This record gives sequence, structure tokens and C-alpha cells, in this order.
Amino acid sequence: MLWRRALLLSSVRYAPFLHRAAFTRRSASILIVGDGDLSYGRYFVEENGGDDVTVSVLETREKHREVYQMHEGHTNAINSKGGKVMFGVDATALKDSFHPGKTFNHIVWNFPHWPGKTNIKRNRELLGAFFNNSRDFLAEDGEIKVALVEGQGGMGSESMRDWKASWKAAVYAAENDLLLTEIEEFSEASSYEQSSHRGVDRGFHIGKRPERYVFTPSTGYRGGDVAEGARLATFHELHLVGRRCLDEVDELASAVVEDGVNVHVMIVEWLEEIDITVFRIVYEGAKMCVTKEKGDSWSEKLEERAEEKGFDLRPEKKGRGCSHAVPYTMCAARFGLTTT
Ligand SMILES: C[S@@+](CC[C@H](N)C(=O)[O-])C[C@H]1O[C@@H](n2cnc3c(N)ncnc32)[C@H](O)[C@@H]1O
Repeated sequence: MLWRRALLLSSVRYAPFLHRAAFTRRSASILIVGDGDLSYGRYFVEENGGDDVTVSVLETREKHREVYQMHEGHTNAINSKGGKVMFGVDATALKDSFHPGKTFNHIVWNFPHWPGKTNIKRNRELLGAFFNNSRDFLAEDGEIKVALVEGQGGMGSESMRDWKASWKAAVYAAENDLLLTEIEEFSEASSYEQSSHRGVDRGFHIGKRPERYVFTPSTGYRGGDVAEGARLATFHELHLVGRRCLDEVDELASAVVEDGVNVHVMIVEWLEEIDITVFRIVYEGAKMCVTKEKGDSWSEKLEERAEEKGFDLRPEKKGRGCSHAVPYTMCAARFGLTTT
């Protein structure tokens, strides 16, 4: 309830970060996975040429021919533009289809969905396994582009309830060292036929405003700050004995994080009767993916440093670690943070 109220008061909004962007070809090598009846692949090569474009589906060639009426037409159209079509490619086991060392500049999956009924847990697992696998086949500064139904990715969540109901795409990516850099409007949705619904040749709902999440390897990332709506954050409290001021903790906290992480420190309250100052520390991933694990290590380091500098920590509140990663904009709204 409190969370919700804080959000309503906030001026932080997600929508302005969303811009229309067609994915046009900028670099050499492109892999499209899970491409339904191959309709997007056809559209893509007709727009951009098929040189070094591989369009793939999970089904075997025989199964695909049996299920999709446009099998022949789309396959031939892709081939005629110089594109390659591959069948039986499992996006969660790319090593079964490609030699080690093979890399792509872009790996694209539009509207991933496990083959069964809607099931958040299964779809999160599918995304996680895809990220885990595709990471090895991504060029150093390559990008993974995932189109999602509006709200599915979770970064625009305005409440914990929405966030928990989403696929938390950025979290699963971050656990595989992939940084969400942008969320764009998926403007090509109307340029091809969505056709694969639970393994049959049928359309599916993509909502009014489908989105494309763009990820890139976090380690070695040399770009600028990622879009604010694309950042993750994690937070924790620090309970110090005595009446302490913001600057003391700010200095300590800023020193424990790597480049690319913004730290926000605030005083939550002074518990006069037990003489404790309660701080909240928020770690915001501006150029680095944030996970609970990283947050735990930063909070541990912060506590160690505080003790080294002679601060007394409230024993029962020590070593509690950080929150799970959440969208930074949601966190900023909840805690009334001003954003950069
Ligand atoms: C909702 S459909 C989207 C199809 C197509 N990308 C589009 O935009 O129309 C989900 C697709 O994911 C595919 N899929 C599910 N699990 C997969 C996996 N492990 N590897 C590759 N594709 C998979 C399904 O075969 C299906 O074609």
C-alpha cells in the first residue's frame, strides 16, 4: 500500500523512454531464433538483404512443413535473398546447432514463449536459458534483441504486483552478465504475420504497444549510461549506532561499487530511544547490470568498511544483504529519489 502511494506521488515515469525504432541492419551477422512460420525472417531479409542472416525455428523441417501453410513460400523467399533457414534450432541449446567460436552481432527472438499454456515460471526459465546460451554466441559488443508483449518484460512496472507478474527479463539477463541498454517500441510488429501460437499456425495477442528489449554484454561494456527505464537497482538498510550524518555513509558507500553504478544514500530515521541512525542505500546500475548477488557483496563491503572506520553497527541488523533487483524507476518512485 505504502509502495503504491509513493508511486502515485512520484514524477518518475517510464513511458518517455520508449521510442520507435525499427531494427535496421548495421552489421554483419544476424541470427533470428524461434521464428514461428518464418514470416519475420522473410520480412527482415526483404528489407535488409539476406547476406549472413540465419533465420531459425525449433521445429524440424518436416514438422514445420506440416504445421505452417507458409513454410515453403517463406523458406524460398529467405533463400532467394541469400538468407539461410535452419530447422531444429533450440534457442536454449545453440551449441547443438553452431560450432564453438561462431558469433553473431545480433541474436533476435520475437515473442519468445515456451510451447505450452501461459506460465510465467516456464517463460522466465526459457528466457534465462536463452540468455545463458546465446551469450556464448554473441560478438563482444553484440546485441540480443527480444520483442515482448507490453508489460511482459517488467521494466515499466509501477507496483511490486506488476513486477512480480512480469517475466523480469532484465533480471534473467543480468544473471547472465547481459545489460539491458534500451527498451524500444517494437515497430515491426505490423510488418509481418505473428503466426505461432502454442505450436499451431495461429496468431497471438501482442497488445497495443509491444516492446523490444535490447541487451549487450555487461563485462567490457564501453557505451554511455543506459536508458533510465532500462536500469535495475537493489537496496539495503544500514543501522549505525549514534546519530550519524549522510555524508559519512555516502563517502563509504560510493567507494564500494564499481564504475557504472550510482549510489543513493538516504536517512530513513533516527531511532532516538535506542540511539540508532537507519540509512537506506540504493545501488543503481547505470552502465552495469545489477543483481542481488552483486548487491549483497556491496553491502557486505560497506559494512566491513564502516567497521574499519570505527562505526558501530547494530548487531541484529548486520549481514542482511540486499533486496532482489527491481526496476530503478520503480525504486526511485518508492523512495522519492531524483534521477539523473
Ligand atoms: C509466440 S511464438 C513467436 C513466433 C515468432 N517469433 C513471431 O514473432 O511470430 C513463440 C515461438 O517460440 C518458439 N520456441 C519455443 N521454445 C523454443 C526454443 N527452446 N527454441 C527455439 N524456439 C522456441 C516456438 O516454436 C514459437 O515459434
